[in-house]
Amino acid sequence: MKVTVFGVGYVGLVQAVVLADVGHNVCCVDVDEKKIEALKHGDLPIFEPGLAELVLNNYEKKRIDFTTDAVKGVEHAELQFIAVGTPPDEDGSADLQYVLSVAGTIAGHMQEGKIIIDKSTVPVGTADKVRAHMTVILKERNLDLPLHVASNPEFLKEGSALEDCMRPERIIIGTDSEEVEEKLRELYEPFSRNHDKIMVMDVRSAEFTKYAANCMLATKISFMNEMSNLAERLGVDIEQVRRGIGSDSRIGYQFIYPGCGYGGSCFPKDVQALERSAREIGYHAQILQAVESVNHKQKAKLFEHISAFYSNEIAGKTIALWGLSFKPNTDDMREASSRILIEALWQAGARIQAYDPEAMEEAQRIYDTRDDFTLMGTKEAALHGADALVIVTEWKSFRVPDFQKMAEELRDKVVFDGRNLYEPKRIEAMGLAYYGIGRGRSVKKFT
Ligand SMILES: NC(=O)c1ccc[n+]([C@@H]2O[C@H](COP(=O)([O-])OP(=O)(O)OC[C@H]3O[C@@H](n4cnc5c(N)ncnc54)[C@H](O)[C@@H]3O)[C@@H](O)[C@H]2O)c1
Repeated sequence: MKVTVFGVGYVGLVQAVVLADVGHNVCCVDVDEKKIEALKHGDLPIFEPGLAELVLNNYEKKRIDFTTDAVKGVEHAELQFIAVGTPPDEDGSADLQYVLSVAGTIAGHMQEGKIIIDKSTVPVGTADKVRAHMTVILKERNLDLPLHVASNPEFLKEGSALEDCMRPERIIIGTDSEEVEEKLRELYEPFSRNHDKIMVMDVRSAEFTKYAANCMLATKISFMNEMSNLAERLGVDIEQVRRGIGSDSRIGYQFIYPGCGYGGSCFPKDVQALERSAREIGYHAQILQAVESVNHKQKAKLFEHISAFYSNEIAGKTIALWGLSFKPNTDDMREASSRILIEALWQAGARIQAYDPEAMEEAQRIYDTRDDFTLMGTKEAALHGADALVIVTEWKSFRVPDFQKMAEELRDKVVFDGRNLYEPKRIEAMGLAYYGIGRGRSVKKFT
């Protein structure tokens, strides 16, 4: 089948290449000329395991193409996916300008009927807005063409995006049209062979399902972070509690890791956007507000620990920082906890020596060159000449470091761990002070 995808970000690019890989013919449109040019030369704008090879292979086989020419994209297919960003507006609600701009472009150029499929995360009622916007433009063009707007939210996780799209747990299609349902079933059939993963529902319910899913996951994280704050004060080790409650199948082990807060381009903005949507209809979403505010405080946690250890005298210290991306296996630093920490450390007069397996280019792009920020080639190099180590992202390669070397390198012999990677006794046996999240001990002052 022919498909057009507007927006080649994390969602659009991955979905497009996965569709191409099973044999569909996909035209990707983006307004970012640099991105499109780079993609044509096999340079990917993002890091995602396995993605570069798959893009190259499908591009060579001419199953996927990249263009900035929206007219070409509109002509290419009946199925038009919208996968552009929906960042938070000033008040936290979802900014629909990019979605509506794509809808306007399609309406401005379509010569026959189209099926618009919204893959971006958008508030309930957006499909109606898209349809209304397009209808006005079609009227101005004196055209009365068949138009369907469906919702098909994306549930991929950065870091395992390809796998998630190739083997989705569910494919949600929001439509009240049998024709659209039929076409989308055909499109997704190769991903639904093992058992039927397609769930068809009305458009508004599909739009809401995406927010409800992300808010549920964010709630689990914030709940656990709240427990970790209690644990810290009560002399309880939250890691033992995590195992204790995770073994209950009604709770499960996923998304109950205490840490230095959630980031990324989805949870923070989606919790905020749903809370703002609730406000607009006069409903006070107390749980969502609490989830957001617990996370906000949790992102300041590492700096609090460092400040307490140094009695607020951080100026002149060199901090080794492991992990810049908001989670492992991605180079995405949007809303990353590392950014809150880095900026707080600079404010306090510290220097940072950072290492991340994938996000260093992104960090360079965000912070440019500064005297108090050095990107180091390896995690070991980041320790050299540093006073303390802070771990912000749980990359696999951080799990079994050489504690002996760590103890030799760190001048103040202290590790602040925002992801609870280590067994406290093992690391303390090397003569290092160790502060995780909610490990049942308060920070002792450095002397
Ligand atoms: N990133 C994720 O993990 C994830 C997962 C599920 C859902 N989502 C949702 O999917 C949507 C896209 O997220 P993303 O992370 O892929 O965003 P992104 O910022 O990585 O990519 C968006 C792309 O859209 C392009 N764009 C903007 N305006 C355009 C236009 N008028 N025409 C063509 N292209 C245009 C941008 O240049 C950019 O390349 C968001 O609503 C997000 O909430 C994201």
